Amino acid sequence: MSCRVAQIHKVSSHSEVYEPCDDSFALVDALLADRTNLLEHKPSLCLELGCGSGYVITSLALMLGELPGVHYIATDTNLHAVRVTRETLQAHNVHAEVIATDLASGLDTRLAGLVDVIVVNPPYVPTPEDEVGREGITSAWAGGVDGRAVIDRILPVVDKLLSDRGWLYMVTLTTNNPLQICRQMKAGGYSSRIVVQRSTEEESLHIIKFWQDSGDETCKKETATLKKTAGGKVMDSVLSQIQRLPFWKKFESND
Ligand SMILES: C[S@@+](CC[C@H](N)C(=O)[O-])C[C@H]1O[C@@H](n2cnc3c(N)ncnc32)[C@H](O)[C@@H]1O
Repeated sequence: MSCRVAQIHKVSSHSEVYEPCDDSFALVDALLADRTNLLEHKPSLCLELGCGSGYVITSLALMLGELPGVHYIATDTNLHAVRVTRETLQAHNVHAEVIATDLASGLDTRLAGLVDVIVVNPPYVPTPEDEVGREGITSAWAGGVDGRAVIDRILPVVDKLLSDRGWLYMVTLTTNNPLQICRQMKAGGYSSRIVVQRSTEEESLHIIKFWQDSGDETCKKETATLKKTAGGKVMDSVLSQIQRLPFWKKFESND
């Protein structure tokens, strides 16, 4: 089965737009790793929040290309990113609606409860709070205290937009306290698992997938697989996976 992602030499660029980097590649790798489930899931509407160069939304559209009638939407606050994403999509001959907005502002009514897949590589780097939301390239990484300022705004938006069978794929850094994010989502009825993990000496990137506990058959299959992986113990979230990771102890004491 042919499977394509965006070709880097065709990805448009601008000095004020985030270039595809390790986190972008890890997110696309997570989508590729889950591609069979995604094809079976047959999403009608996919959304990327903070599309930057368009590398991720273009890759998603290419890898799901065989599915008919999927609508793709991408948003970014950075006007250069909106233009660059349109160029990247066009260079790969795929289409998405690209909208300049803060997360999904102005789209809430239109999209509430309708989005089957959301992908997001948020600004997650810990920075002084006043750097969050600045114009241009700074907004690509500035995440405020613990890198959580934008992530904490994204979670309720995602909850509002996802359909009952909706999935979220989100990049997090160890410093963002992914365990606490998973617990927060769990309280809202979402299970989770790490699809991809990349570590350096200082940090770990996790691409976490979230889905509603009450979701469709594919999700039930995922939950069952996780339970099986845990040797029959109840393990319907990423929490047990995270407990085995080195940063668990660090955050356990902060909870
Ligand atoms: C880490 S970059 C990721 C870019 C791209 N998705 C990728 O993976 O290569 C984060 C992107 O989010 C955008 N962004 C930051 N805050 C945003 C907000 N409140 N609403 C929409 N986009 C935002 C930035 O402009 C930037 O393009």
